[in-house]
Amino acid sequence: MYKLLTNGQACASLLADTQLIYPIVRFIAGSHNERNLIMTDKHTFINIAIDGPSGVGKSTIAKLLASELGYVYIDTGAMFRTLAVYFTDLGIDAADRETIVAALDNIEIGIRYIDGVQHMFANGQDVTDRLRTEAVSSMASVTSQYGEVRGKLLEMQRELAAKENVIMDGRDIGTVVLPDAQVKVFLTASAKVRAKRRYDQLQAAGKLEGATFEDILRDQEERDYRDTHREIAPLKPADDARVIDTSDMTKEEVRNAVLEVLHECKAC
Ligand code: DC
Repeated sequence: MYKLLTNGQACASLLADTQLIYPIVRFIAGSHNERNLIMTDKHTFINIAIDGPSGVGKSTIAKLLASELGYVYIDTGAMFRTLAVYFTDLGIDAADRETIVAALDNIEIGIRYIDGVQHMFANGQDVTDRLRTEAVSSMASVTSQYGEVRGKLLEMQRELAAKENVIMDGRDIGTVVLPDAQVKVFLTASAKVRAKRRYDQLQAAGKLEGATFEDILRDQEERDYRDTHREIAPLKPADDARVIDTSDMTKEEVRNAVLEVLHECKAC
């Protein structure tokens, strides 16, 4: 059984929460104003966790489904990247854990949805356009291994998921961030397929900057290694996740496969 809340009711409860350091202004910005929010009998929102290695297409599928289902898409990688922008601006060496941890006290992360797009703020400054550089990717990959960095973002991720129906993507969503998510999917694909997708994307965007396919594959393998071998919250499928190998699948096929998991969900 579902209970439908009017948007006004949900809006009032969200805006009443003055503890949020990351104002949820999507309602004010008005991207999904007309939709109703669905809550289960237990007054918990539906959480869909999509995990997997870099370049597997998590965000493409999560964004597509979020828009089709009227859910909020939460890109947790962007949160690690926002911290990475801050560390990079300070000129901190990613390996200098002590200085990275000390810097965490001085950074306030903000997340806002403007016209349906997730924007990230570092101390009030919109850094969304700076999240995808190679320097930031590399900084995020190293610093996301530190427990203090992960701890800073964990509460924010859980709080967002407690207030909305969300599709959240990352590396540890099904295992650590939202262990009670009603739907868990782990997307995977061979390293070569993922690197080729990334190469094609960068080429199409004119952002290859001289990088070869081999460069991209090597970088990705390094990140895969760090993601899967770190002590805290390593990348791995949750025991109750559906693993989908997308190597030979089209975007449509992956979308349908994830929807199938959602349709099988008894708690949804
Ligand atoms: O998904 P992405 O490439 O934007 O993620 C950036 C980095 O953050 C990546 O190196 C892995 C890390 N990350 C993580 O450790 N846990 C998450 N839930 C999301 C991302």
